[in-house]
Amino acid sequence: MSGKALQKYLDKNLKDMKEQKIYNEISVFSCGNGPIIRHDGKELVNLSSTNYLALSNNPRIIEATIKATEKYGAGSGGTRALSGSLDIHEELEIKLAELVNMEAAITFQSAYNCNIGAIVAIMDSHDAILSDTYNHSSIIDGCIISGAKIIYYEHSSVKDLRHKAKSAVDSGLYNKIMVITDGIFSMDGDIAKIQDIVDIAEELDLITYVDDAHAIGVIGQNGSGSGTHHDLVGKIDLQIGTLSKAIGVVGGYVAGSKDLIEWLKRKSSPFLFSNSMTPGAVGAAIEAINILNESTELIDKLWHNGRYLKRELKKIGFDIGQSETPITPCIFSNAEIAQQFSQELLQEGVYAKILSFSTIPLAAARIRNIPTAAHDEEMLNRAIKAYKTVGINMGII
Ligand SMILES: Cc1ncc(COP(=O)(O)O)c(C=O)c1O
Repeated sequence: MSGKALQKYLDKNLKDMKEQKIYNEISVFSCGNGPIIRHDGKELVNLSSTNYLALSNNPRIIEATIKATEKYGAGSGGTRALSGSLDIHEELEIKLAELVNMEAAITFQSAYNCNIGAIVAIMDSHDAILSDTYNHSSIIDGCIISGAKIIYYEHSSVKDLRHKAKSAVDSGLYNKIMVITDGIFSMDGDIAKIQDIVDIAEELDLITYVDDAHAIGVIGQNGSGSGTHHDLVGKIDLQIGTLSKAIGVVGGYVAGSKDLIEWLKRKSSPFLFSNSMTPGAVGAAIEAINILNESTELIDKLWHNGRYLKRELKKIGFDIGQSETPITPCIFSNAEIAQQFSQELLQEGVYAKILSFSTIPLAAARIRNIPTAAHDEEMLNRAIKAYKTVGINMGII
């Protein structure tokens, strides 16, 4: 593409986005990502973070970041396969495997990289992947890069999954077939039907892959995610998750059998060709797991706040979908209304963003609210009052 061709492409597409009112303004903050954030000189109740347990601002985690940075430096200085494997990377992997009750774990720089690294290391053009239509973009990217045939099944439809899985097996076209699902769906907060998925996988010999990015630190024993939540420890082949949401730092992990992790350490591109998690992030993630293991206090508070927000928004007449977790979507008839609603909320002192348009159908635009363990009732009431005011002003409730 010549310089002119690029400019033409950008001009047209940026203009289209703005005309369709789906151009996402990026907000910049001058403070940490807590329950109250400062933006344009205003203090706002923040309902748009994934800092579920407020661990990113926790003094113990900050202290652990500093200590690890002082001991090992700011960067790891290499890829894991060269000189960037520190003893604390291994300590974190052992702790993660213990937390999620799997034999072993491998860490990546993000869960995005886990999905790229793990799917591509296992699946290829002779294979097929059954993917829930609501799966996260990083899963879809991993599936596409792998070259495997992607077979989408209707969101959480056990019937459609069974039918498509059986057809794929019966076709005899594929060497291996994998089924992939979010553990908790990031857009609507519903929980995947993993027991049914595992049953189908056992019957048809499918590889099972669960992305626990929104489940780690939120469901399961001490926040250990889908395996313990569904009492399916040992029945899920790959359980991946992020260290950037409830864990409060950055990074990702894949947990599974010892052989799987040995394979991924030899075959996953982000592990082999991109420098490893920074020492500060690793030290912080280890401390976050210590906190999860010590008490469920933060998780309990998160769920209490989630139930409260969902109940109150529903009571005043908003469509909050089918969430079963603290994720509280507010669903609007189209993107333009959702965008305007989000802007009006800002005027009322609430920061609640509409979800990125590449991931959701425009007709079902939603603002995704996530209360955290650090919100108190006064903050949530302020947000609920703002929702009510804007809802009435816009004729939505
Ligand atoms: C289901 C799912 N998987 C993966 C990711 C990527 O997580 P990370 O921030 O660690 O790259 C996200 C983040 O939004 C997610 O929701």
